[in-house]
Amino acid sequence: MTQLSPLYEGKAKIIYATADPEILLAEFKDEATAFNAQKRGAIQNKGVMNCAIASHLFRYLAAQGIPNHFIAQVAPNQMHIRRVEIIPLEVVVRNRAAGSLCRQTGLPLGLELNPPLVEFYLKNDALGDPLLTGDRLRLLQIATDEEVAQITQMALAVNTHLSRFFAECGITLVDFKLEFGRSQRGEILLADEISPDSCRLWNQEETDPEKRILDKDRFRQDLGAIEEAYALVMQRVLAHSIP
Ligand SMILES: Nc1ncnc2c1ncn2[C@@H]1O[C@H](COP(=O)(O)OP(=O)(O)O)[C@@H](O)[C@H]1O
Ligand SMILES: [Mg+2]
Repeated sequence: MTQLSPLYEGKAKIIYATADPEILLAEFKDEATAFNAQKRGAIQNKGVMNCAIASHLFRYLAAQGIPNHFIAQVAPNQMHIRRVEIIPLEVVVRNRAAGSLCRQTGLPLGLELNPPLVEFYLKNDALGDPLLTGDRLRLLQIATDEEVAQITQMALAVNTHLSRFFAECGITLVDFKLEFGRSQRGEILLADEISPDSCRLWNQEETDPEKRILDKDRFRQDLGAIEEAYALVMQRVLAHSIP
């Protein structure tokens, strides 16, 4: 399918139009950013690894009945996706305390959260992606109450499936960020990406709190061996079969 000019270049992907107005091409980049793009760098081969990981996970979630934007992987670092109107929310699901939750609440790193926590952040880099309250979410009219309820339910279902999937890979799914959008048909679809850029993943074979980290925290915290961590996630994810 012919690829037209870039529609949008984000921090991790370039989105192109295609000849079909309902289909976009997402090209995954090696560039990495953290702390709202204040820290910048590149992770060698990240585009290819994240595209492979996300493609496999979207296929898996579709097989589990989670509607998502994935159509097909068309190149090592490119996938065709269904065009949606992105709802400007970062939906975070947490199974264990980490990152900003620890910083803002004092909860100890790794504390198990049962039931898992679902949080909504405003997807707005200029405002620093602030945490929203339910009232602020309603005030901003970003999504209807019905949509928020549906997104929450979908995020928890994604968590159930992905937690089990990663556990079967010997990896703990600590937390992750999702984006959702509205399709042309008005359906809510899971969109964007699921990768070590957007998840916290801990290797269950390591007890050392730094060595076990298999995600973008290695880049955020300058822990080294970033490519090796992403490659290990890719290898284990791709080896997990899809029913
Ligand atoms: N199916 C889709 N349709 C339209 N836009 C999408 C879709 N999936 C993801 N996007 C958007 O593509 C953009 C590029 O992704 P990314 O580089 O990760 O951006 P960001 O810098 O906002 O994180 C983001 O704005 C994301 O919300
Ligand atoms: Mg992004």
